Amino acid sequence: MTKNFERSILVTGGAGFIGSHVVRLLVNKYPGYRIVNLDALTYAGNLENLKDIEGAANYVFEKGDIADEQLVGSLFNTYAFDGVIHLAAESHVDRSILDPLQFVRTNVLGTVVLLNVAKKAWQGNYEGKRFYHVSTDEVYGSLGEEGFFTETTAYDPRSPYSASKASSDHFVMAYHHTYHLPVVISNCSNNYGSHHFPEKLIPLMINNIRNNKPLPVYGKGENIRDWLWVEDHARAIDLIYHKGKDGEKYNVGGFNEWKNIDLVHLLCRIMDRKLGREEGASAKLITYVTDRPGHDLRYAIDATKLNTELGWQPSLQFEEGLEKTVDWYLQNQEWVDHVTSGDYQSYYETQYHKR
Ligand code: NAD
Ligand code: DAU
Repeated sequence: MTKNFERSILVTGGAGFIGSHVVRLLVNKYPGYRIVNLDALTYAGNLENLKDIEGAANYVFEKGDIADEQLVGSLFNTYAFDGVIHLAAESHVDRSILDPLQFVRTNVLGTVVLLNVAKKAWQGNYEGKRFYHVSTDEVYGSLGEEGFFTETTAYDPRSPYSASKASSDHFVMAYHHTYHLPVVISNCSNNYGSHHFPEKLIPLMINNIRNNKPLPVYGKGENIRDWLWVEDHARAIDLIYHKGKDGEKYNVGGFNEWKNIDLVHLLCRIMDRKLGREEGASAKLITYVTDRPGHDLRYAIDATKLNTELGWQPSLQFEEGLEKTVDWYLQNQEWVDHVTSGDYQSYYETQYHKR
């Protein structure tokens, strides 16, 4: 703590999927910044995700709950944060259907606690301060076959998860309008890449294909998602944190829409090739199961604002990104085994057995 840092940034949820990519990028790119990662290490958080940077001089890990006001307050005292990049959340739609209250507690209450503590600590002295809230395109609801979500699309959340994220977005904007807290929000589409917890579509399918287990496709597999390489999202977060305007929202997306069933077939083809299986072998594992209740049909982000105002664009083609992702999972079976032991098994039973 004796070293003087140019900036001191609190990243919440830095041991999760996207958060770990954000922490890694910031720690490596800005040796003059102190990056403090506050994470409760729920089932989704894993310090193995950050093994490569855990010894860096500008990195600190703090285990704890964002909804614990006393703890967050004491971290502000200790580290004198001038910025917050808030990613900690319950993030899985299916879990939100099983237990909505946990999503309200973490995503809504946790966000308000962070806002409150930042407001108190900064005491209206907002020069050089920023509260960045990382949100999702799901707050906009579901699209039909046409159209895109823009920053002015009205919120229409339809799952307990998206309702909790929409609520947290509203609180962030309310703190801006009421107390002039310098906030910025981004709403991103579906991420994919390394360290993605295998409850989500892509890593779950990779893991099941590898283990010759059924591939549970919800409904008819016709729902559409817009996929973005997680490292491109991390780059967008870095850019928006530094260059975005206070009180603004930025949509982040991959311009890359896929029907679930087409994506699962593509994964099967890649895995057949990588595992030396006969062509078509993995696709035989596809099993149509009962649909997700209230399943949103289509998400598609218009990221023009981020492109024209801040010059961001995705760097990686989807097929190339998927190949890299599959390679990472095949080379990191120990990580997969670790995160799928214990609680994952009972979640899997509850979620898929009934289907
Ligand atoms: P994740 O589930 O992989 O990670 C969440 C992290 O938050 C975990 O490390 C977990 O331990 C931590 N956490 C949970 N509750 C906490 C609490 N009470 N206190 C402190 N830490 C806590 O999530 P992700 O997919 O990396 O998503 C990160 C953020 O990005 C979320 O806010 C999510 O809504 C948003 N987002 C995700 C996607 C996506 O495709 N995954 C897309 C757009 C936006
Ligand atoms: O759009 C951004 C959101 O993307 C993020 O805010 C969420 O945190 C993230 O989890 C993700 O939500 P989705 O519900 O779109 O992702 P998921 O991977 O759970 O599902 C993707 C699609 O695949 C969706 O249409 C449901 C379907 N699906 C999912 C699973 C887990 C299946 O068909 N079978 C499955 O087993």
